[in-house]
Amino acid sequence: MAVVKLGGSIISDKKKDFSYRGESVASLARAILSSGERTVVVHGGGAFGHPLAKRYHLSSRSASHSPEGVSETRRAMFDLNARICDSMTAEGLHPYTFSPFPLLTAAGTKGRKWLEQIVSAGLTPVTFGDVVHEDAGFRILSGDTIALLLSRSLRAARCVFVMDVDGILGPDGSVLREIDRRSAARLELSSSGDATGGIALKVREALKIASGGTEVAFVSGFNPHEFSKALKGLDFHGTIVKVPSLD
Ligand code: IPE
Repeated sequence: MAVVKLGGSIISDKKKDFSYRGESVASLARAILSSGERTVVVHGGGAFGHPLAKRYHLSSRSASHSPEGVSETRRAMFDLNARICDSMTAEGLHPYTFSPFPLLTAAGTKGRKWLEQIVSAGLTPVTFGDVVHEDAGFRILSGDTIALLLSRSLRAARCVFVMDVDGILGPDGSVLREIDRRSAARLELSSSGDATGGIALKVREALKIASGGTEVAFVSGFNPHEFSKALKGLDFHGTIVKVPSLD
């Protein structure tokens, strides 16, 4: 099975609140369908979840108690999810939205079989970065963390992070062919600007995913051909995450 994280920057234009990039999602859906890969999709919040999270001070780092903030942010995420599912359906996929919440609980251990059965029934499971309740209050669960939880529970062969740039960029702005724990530690990755952890969280979760034996790729969603190759485990233009060496 493969896990695909559709980053907020590829499904929406983060510079314009509530802007949806339908064409990008459609071309990625076509690539998923034609790849024949058994795929679970996770999408981020982008221009839907993040502006509201910011307005109501919701974040992945600390708990919030704003009922209207929780409700409105989730509402925007369900709106975005409906648009993504519509685009997928128009391209011939059959999306099945599920809440990421059980992944955090004991029920999550049964997740693998459950998701495999949904995929075998011809559906594409879809979930998204969400606002989840914990003892201390409400917190945002990033789609990047969900990608980690899913990759682990599915023992996924591959996890593909889809972005609006060609991969993880080095200090000179060029795409890094590969990163590992050491080279990632040397990069100055932004962790600010949104309610979750920016590119720094993405890379942190990606390293954990790779250390569990899942191949991890970062690829541009503006280039569906390269995305398709990454999804199929072929050589592609972008960044791969190397399993940390033991030396
Ligand atoms: C954030 O999910 C979800 C909410 C803001 C509710 P992500 O952290 O995965 O979103 P992106 O991919 O960075 O936009």
